[in-house]
This record gives sequence, C-alpha cells and structure tokens, in this order.
Amino acid sequence: MTPRLHYGTPAKIFHWLIVALLAVQYPIGWLMPDLHRGMQPGAPMIFHVSVGFTILLVIVLRLAWRLSHPVAPESSLPIRQRLSSELVHWMLYVMVLATTISGWLFASYRGWTLSFFYLFRLPMLASDNAAAGKAIDGLHQAAEWLLIVLIVLHVGAALVHIFIYRNRVMQRMLPG
Ligand code: HEM
Ligand code: HEM
Repeated sequence: MTPRLHYGTPAKIFHWLIVALLAVQYPIGWLMPDLHRGMQPGAPMIFHVSVGFTILLVIVLRLAWRLSHPVAPESSLPIRQRLSSELVHWMLYVMVLATTISGWLFASYRGWTLSFFYLFRLPMLASDNAAAGKAIDGLHQAAEWLLIVLIVLHVGAALVHIFIYRNRVMQRMLPG
C-alpha cells in the first residue's frame, strides 16, 4: 500500500478525540477516591472505567484506520527525526492500549460489577483475585506514567517544530 502524504479528516478526528478523552481521564483518575478491598465502586470509578473503555474503543478503531491508511513522515525532515517521531507515535499507540487493558484487568481482579455510564453491564476479563489485582495495579500506574512521559516528548517535539524549526509539521494534524 502506498503511504499518503497527509493525514485525512478521520485520522485528525481520531487524534484530537483521544487527546480530549485523555484530558478528561487523567483528572478523574487522580481525583477519584481510593477504593479499598471490599468497597464497591461509586460514580467516579464508573466514569473512569467508562471513559477508559471509550478510549480503548477509539484507539482500536484509530489503529485499524492507521494501518489501512498509512501516512508518510514529513518529507523535509532529516532521517533521524523521521525515525524518532515514528517510534514515539507507535509507542503512544502501544501505551494507550497498555494503560486501558491494565485498567480493565485491575477492575476485573477486584471482582467488581461495572456499568458503561450506567447504561449496560461491562464484560470483565477475570474473577476476584487479590494477589493479581495488586500486581496489575502497579502496572496500570506504571503504564499511565510512561504514557505521560511519551506525551510530554511528543508535545515538546510539536512545540519545537512550531517555534524553533518553524516548519509545517504541526499543520499536518490541524483541520484543513
Ligand atoms: C488511557 C486510559 C486510562 C488512563 C489514562 C487512566 C489513568 C488512571 C489514573 C491516573 C489513575 C489513578 C492512579 C494513581 O493514583 O496514580 C487510575 C486508577 C485506576 N484506573 Fe485507570 N486509566 C485509564 C483506563 C482505565 C480503564 C479502561 C480501567 C478499567 C476498565 C481503569 C481502571 C482503573 C482503576 C480500577 C483504578 C484505581 C486504582 C487504585 O485504586 O489504586 N483505568 N487510572
Ligand atoms: C496538544 C497535544 C498534541 C499535539 C500538539 C500533537 C501534535 C501532533 C502532530 C503535529 C502530529 C503529526 C506529526 C507528523 O506529521 O509526523 C501528531 C501525530 C500523532 N499524535 Fe499527537 N499531538 C498531541 C497530543 C497527542 C496525544 C495525547 C497522543 C496520544 C496519546 C498523540 C498521539 C499521536 C500519534 C499516535 C500520532 C501519529 C499519528 C499517526 O501517524 O498515526 N498526540 N500529533
């Protein structure tokens, strides 16, 4: 498949939708109260899990779209920058998947029954398991922080392209 030179509208919508969902998801994650064993999830956890499932669904659709509609890196960039940006982009996909799946596993090992925005019951991946839950809690936290590191690198690179190189890389992800 020949890679196209520009991101199309669906790729741009997927990109900014994930940005918006993560901007909601992190504050919910940090602000929601800690739940100890035996406690049932309340509204903040239902919202965290429901937004998390939405992110998982959107990233899977986005990845499928990306694989079926490849886009070449900006041609004016030196090869090292092209390779490093591609690497960070693929790692962003992997870490969004890892963060959502580790969260889903963690909620499953807690033995909770959870709904999607109070609309329908969400499927769980495993049954109650305290030891596995503890291990996966650490993984969810590690994944969420590694994702932040990648986002900082990615946004930092975007700012360098805007203000230092003054090239058209940012335009590639903007409407139009
Ligand atoms: C990319 C998506 C996600 C992000 C960015 C995210 C982020 C976070 C954050 C920041 C916390 C607070 C942990 C801390 O204190 O550091 C958290 C906790 C938690 N998340 Fe997520 N999360 C995501 C997806 C999910 C999903 C899909 C689920 C379940 C289906 C989930 C289940 C949980 C649970 C159960 C906790 C509580 C952890 C605890 O009590 O220690 N998360 N998440
Ligand atoms: C304000 C924040 C952000 C800005 C300004 C921004 C900007 C950009 C730009 C300009 C590109 C195109 C790069 C190129 O042409 O090579 C891009 C691509 C990309 N961005 Fe962002 N981004 C932001 C946040 C995020 C976040 C939070 C994520 C995901 C967690 C993300 C994931 C990606 C991915 C995966 C690509 C590559 C798309 C592909 O080739 O499939 N971005 N971003």
